[in-house]
Amino acid sequence: MNIEANSYFAAADPAFLTRNAARHQQAIERCVEKLRMTMPVIGLRNPKIGTAANHWIYCAPFDWVVSFQAGQLWLALQLTGDPVFRNAAQARRPVFRAILANRQAQDHDLGFQFSLGCVADWLMTGAEEPREMALKAAELLLSRYRPEGRYLQAWNAVAPHGRVDPHHAAGRIIADTLQNLALLYWAYGETGRADFRIAADGHAETALAHLVRADDTSFHTFLFDPVTGAALRGETHQGFADGSCWSRGQAWLIHGYAQSAAVTGNPVYLRAARRLAAKAEALMGSDAVPAWDFDAPGANVPRDSSAGAVMAAGAYLLAQQIPAEASHWRDFGDRLLGGLLDSCDLTGDPQALGMLAHGAAHVGSGFADNMLPYGDYYFMEALMRSLGHTQFFW
Ligand code: GLY
Repeated sequence: MNIEANSYFAAADPAFLTRNAARHQQAIERCVEKLRMTMPVIGLRNPKIGTAANHWIYCAPFDWVVSFQAGQLWLALQLTGDPVFRNAAQARRPVFRAILANRQAQDHDLGFQFSLGCVADWLMTGAEEPREMALKAAELLLSRYRPEGRYLQAWNAVAPHGRVDPHHAAGRIIADTLQNLALLYWAYGETGRADFRIAADGHAETALAHLVRADDTSFHTFLFDPVTGAALRGETHQGFADGSCWSRGQAWLIHGYAQSAAVTGNPVYLRAARRLAAKAEALMGSDAVPAWDFDAPGANVPRDSSAGAVMAAGAYLLAQQIPAEASHWRDFGDRLLGGLLDSCDLTGDPQALGMLAHGAAHVGSGFADNMLPYGDYYFMEALMRSLGHTQFFW
């Protein structure tokens, strides 16, 4: 593929290009080719987690990760204009219709699912149905807002496939939800309805007060009294310990606050993202791929490439919004992408169906070293942000 002849740089801001631009450009082109080559194998399935041979195990309906393949396809359409990517992404629309039709399938991850599955479709094609679907999803997400505690309830007591866990319904917020606020901010922008914005801001402020610790590390989850909304305690779900700092949770918060700052202009969110990113940078020491949990004991703990990819995309969002520190945050993003390109990159491996090795989905449950579709999506987003692209679906 010829760099000058394609549209990659057309949407990019030349002033934003990093000194690693050529390497990143080649990498994003390999990502697009990987998508193109794997489309006949993957078909309409949606990757959930990689196998040891770097093939995929696919999502059951309603999985929180069900939209990341579509998100990658929409990015590839944006980069190339090739309708093959639009067709493959749009053919997934029934997956999102099914979520809207199933009460148990709806939780805080409606944001990840519908920003990448339907807002992207609307933004890229102007089609009306995905816009209506995304607005419906935003209504459902809004219905999870608990005014007594000013937060969005993360999970449900009964998950779509029958798992019952009453603790999941008891006033819990989680770091990941910061990424889901984008759907509420988008719905506010589309409709002008203040309740979308009030819920997104209420949750962002509550998470800042309770998930982000005074030392700028973060809890994965925080529990409130479900009746009164009183703050109870921080806990973990996927991290090493309640008091530890799970690196992907920190990454969700960095990207989520930086993204919320970009859409609202609220400097409180930008300061929050900056604090969290500076702490992550300090905790990484000389590493280029984050440990799965910054407090996990031992010398060779599993890495989490997905945390690195989310953090890198967040670092470029900071660079874009803090001109005085732009080169610092670009360097941090470049360092994270450098770690992924040096030790996790599968885009040149013809046997691999995904892009990044060494993701840690849930170490406590034994999922410690796999390809992950969200790692791949944010890898593409970070590469594109590093090259100056600014149009995404959040
Ligand atoms: N949102 C779930 C995770 O990051 O694993």
